[in-house]
Amino acid sequence: MSILIKNGRIVTAEADYLGDILVEGERIQAIGAKLDVKADKIIDAKNKLVFPGGIDPHVHLDMPFMGTFSSDDYTSGTTAALFGGTTMVIDFVLQEQGKSLSDALKTWRKKSKGKACCDYSYHMAVTDFNESTSKEIKSLIQKQGITSFKTFMAYKGALMIDDNQMVGLMNEVRKHGGMVTVHATNGDMIDHLVEKFRSEKKLTPLYHYLSQPEITEAEASSRFADMAFYTDVTAYIVHMTCEGALKAIRLATNRNQKVFAETCVQYLLLDAGLYEKGFESAKWVMSPPLREKKDQEALWAGINQGLVQVVGTDHCPFNWEQKAMGKEDFSKIPNGHPGLEHRMELLFSEGVLKDRISLSTFVALTATNAAKIFGMHPQKGCLAVGSDADIVIFNPHTRHKISAKTHHHRCDYSAYEGWEVVGKCETVLLRGQVAVEHQQLHVAPGTGKFIKRDTVSKII
Ligand code: URP
Ligand code: ZN
Ligand code: ZN
Repeated sequence: MSILIKNGRIVTAEADYLGDILVEGERIQAIGAKLDVKADKIIDAKNKLVFPGGIDPHVHLDMPFMGTFSSDDYTSGTTAALFGGTTMVIDFVLQEQGKSLSDALKTWRKKSKGKACCDYSYHMAVTDFNESTSKEIKSLIQKQGITSFKTFMAYKGALMIDDNQMVGLMNEVRKHGGMVTVHATNGDMIDHLVEKFRSEKKLTPLYHYLSQPEITEAEASSRFADMAFYTDVTAYIVHMTCEGALKAIRLATNRNQKVFAETCVQYLLLDAGLYEKGFESAKWVMSPPLREKKDQEALWAGINQGLVQVVGTDHCPFNWEQKAMGKEDFSKIPNGHPGLEHRMELLFSEGVLKDRISLSTFVALTATNAAKIFGMHPQKGCLAVGSDADIVIFNPHTRHKISAKTHHHRCDYSAYEGWEVVGKCETVLLRGQVAVEHQQLHVAPGTGKFIKRDTVSKII
């Protein structure tokens, strides 16, 4: 099958020009002005943007968490991803404390086998680093192509590791060319505040927010950056939300250390005012919580200063019935929200159209940087001859509203209900196949494949 995309405005992280793209099989075969070639299918992209399929490196599909499972599985989550122009996700395999990493990997292979509609990879979340886990790292990197290792500095008793384990893991991962990523908040400080509020009978979702003040994230981010500097490992902070954490990264750059940073759309666009809505605020109970407007400004600035390289979602949806597990106690509300489908449209509408970021920065944040950081470039994240034909044809003028009635997440509410956005992913190609067109999905579960990743670099 060959596809010719004609007359589009081709946007990459480096360039912006009018041209045509010829796709043959799974790859981009040619790019040029007015390509004079025949193709099985022609897509007229006049007045449209053509950019690389998005990569969301932070999603949780079918994840056991806080006594339940995130509500999107591999099929529904990757379907929502495609409708929103994301052609690849990186999910988290969670080691169960006391068990091996390979046990966890088996579980996740079962969850995803034959079910994914878009491409995917895994980060390995190490929740119990010990002598035996240590021996599994090399083969994960070299044989399985899983090169990033997620750690949690919070969620004690379930996911958190201590600094001793962190340093041990960093040393082992560095030896084999991998990367350590982190949920950087101080779990002990947070647990102290949670217990204090519970003992005072302060139990509404507002206290979820108040139990994770900015300093809990700033402190952990700084400690993590120091440990990464000390062990010389490539490091990445997930879902960074606030000015204090960004300052820690800025300081690290003074000693010529690069710690990659990801923020998520919700931290750029939503703020802690949403915790004043009684139990409805459970919709936005996530960790870290939404922050203040001054933090949003800091994050946009951090993006334009090159300190924040990736915008993900931390997509971790729960239906309302699941959120209601915490009706009487905020600490029992499953943490997370749905966001995967609307990441690119929201960032375009609120970021590019409001002059906060350039179009090329938009592409870098949503696709190219993640591909480079996580060892998939130039196979993924760019429009270049020989790259996978993961391509979005985007109408920058279409106005539409986000709603749970129309989204594809398996979740009965939207975190952005009623938001009007300008710009829509019209046609989405996944490795040369038309995956979404005319608001219909054209690929079956199982089309998405596992992408093995290369070792990582400290510089992109
Ligand atoms: O609230 C969140 N973020 N839920 C998912 C788990 C995590 O911490 O990323
Ligand atoms: Zn997290
Ligand atoms: Zn997460």
